[in-house]
Amino acid sequence: MLHSASHNVRDTASKIEGYTAKLSAELHDMRETAYFPTARKTFARTFSTTDLARLLKVPESTLRQLTIEGKGPQPERAENNRRTYTVEQVKELRTFLAALRPDEAEELLPQRRNGEKLQVIATANFKGGSSKTTTSIHLAHFLGLQGYRVLCIDLDPQASMTALFGIQPEFDLGENETAYAAIRYDNERRSLADVIRPTYFPGVDLVPGNLELMDFEFDTPSYLTSRNRDDLGLFFERMSNALSHVENRYDIVILDTPPSLGYSTLAALYAATSLIITVHPAMLDVASCNQFLIMISDLSEVLGQFGARFEHDFFRFLLTRVNPNDGPQKYMSGVMRRLFGDDVLVAEALESTAIAGAAVAKKTLYELEAGEVGREALKRAIESADRVNFEILGLVQKVWGRSA
Ligand SMILES: Nc1ncnc2c1ncn2[C@@H]1O[C@H](COP(=O)(O)OP(=O)(O)OP(=O)(O)O)[C@@H](O)[C@H]1O
Ligand SMILES: [Mg+2]
Repeated sequence: MLHSASHNVRDTASKIEGYTAKLSAELHDMRETAYFPTARKTFARTFSTTDLARLLKVPESTLRQLTIEGKGPQPERAENNRRTYTVEQVKELRTFLAALRPDEAEELLPQRRNGEKLQVIATANFKGGSSKTTTSIHLAHFLGLQGYRVLCIDLDPQASMTALFGIQPEFDLGENETAYAAIRYDNERRSLADVIRPTYFPGVDLVPGNLELMDFEFDTPSYLTSRNRDDLGLFFERMSNALSHVENRYDIVILDTPPSLGYSTLAALYAATSLIITVHPAMLDVASCNQFLIMISDLSEVLGQFGARFEHDFFRFLLTRVNPNDGPQKYMSGVMRRLFGDDVLVAEALESTAIAGAAVAKKTLYELEAGEVGREALKRAIESADRVNFEILGLVQKVWGRSA
């Protein structure tokens, strides 16, 4: 509550300052401990012959034969005498095998080809904690490992996705280094290319987010009433136009949106060629999702008055944090599927202690080493994430006109 007596207001403000100072320091220490000695996140995981066979869809025997003949990138022997490949070698193997097996070259090197348009996938829902960020980053890492060129854009001032990439917004980002820089209205604006940074994850680049993104919400109303116009256009066109300058560098862009329907979320929904609405199958979440859909539909009418249309190649609901043994959840999943039919992805993102455990280490399932969480839990969680991500990739490939 805001009291009129100013000492009370100051008390709260100074208390909060005290909290953030302590919490910032603690977060900083946690990171130093986690990524010692460089405090930079790296891709530590290696790949076994079995992992590679699955990823590249080649028989293990082929990979073993290459090792015996000393052809292509050579794996190291781990302590347990198992062969392990680094993530760079996975990439080299794609090129090596593609030359060896021209029939499979398209699958081994799956990047976008002529006539296939850039895919921009936004995860959205204004319900907090519906798994938007978890879904986005798992999809991004999955696509990176599959050999695609991926750009992640964090449009959430909370910057959870940025943090999962090992960038602590309070320490690692200077002024004007986020997505806000690329869509702002004043002459401090930078091109999107200037705020893209490579990440430790192969094939995946990032435009980070931080609290600056809030300014877009404050600036937009006054820009709309002023007569100033620049080449990026109105609020909803700005992300889309900014992206057009880096289009050729990527196959798939992933937009992580905040749990609100502000101007930046609208810009993301408009820039997106496809939408994934993440919904936890529980009564309040589904009810809130309905409110979200009503708001989108109202807003698309408003956009219509500007001559803009919401058009998407695909629009799917994804059921998240699903516990298959939970009766009420099963009921709500049933309701979603009955009402929305094929617009609900067949695959569901299962609730998993492996995801929760990975998040603590700021990792996705795709970068965990065996042993970091329970083996069975990890296996089941990866199977679930793979099913979701392969289904989304299938939709992308369909848009590109590739056969399944
Ligand atoms: N399948 C899952 N199993 C277990 N935990 C999960 C799963 N998906 C997400 N979580 C956890 O739930 C929390 C919320 O997830 P996440 O941050 O992805 O949601 P969000 O929709 O992006 O939230 P916000 O609205 O705040 O942006 C996180 O702590 C995350 O680790
Ligand atoms: Mg989020």
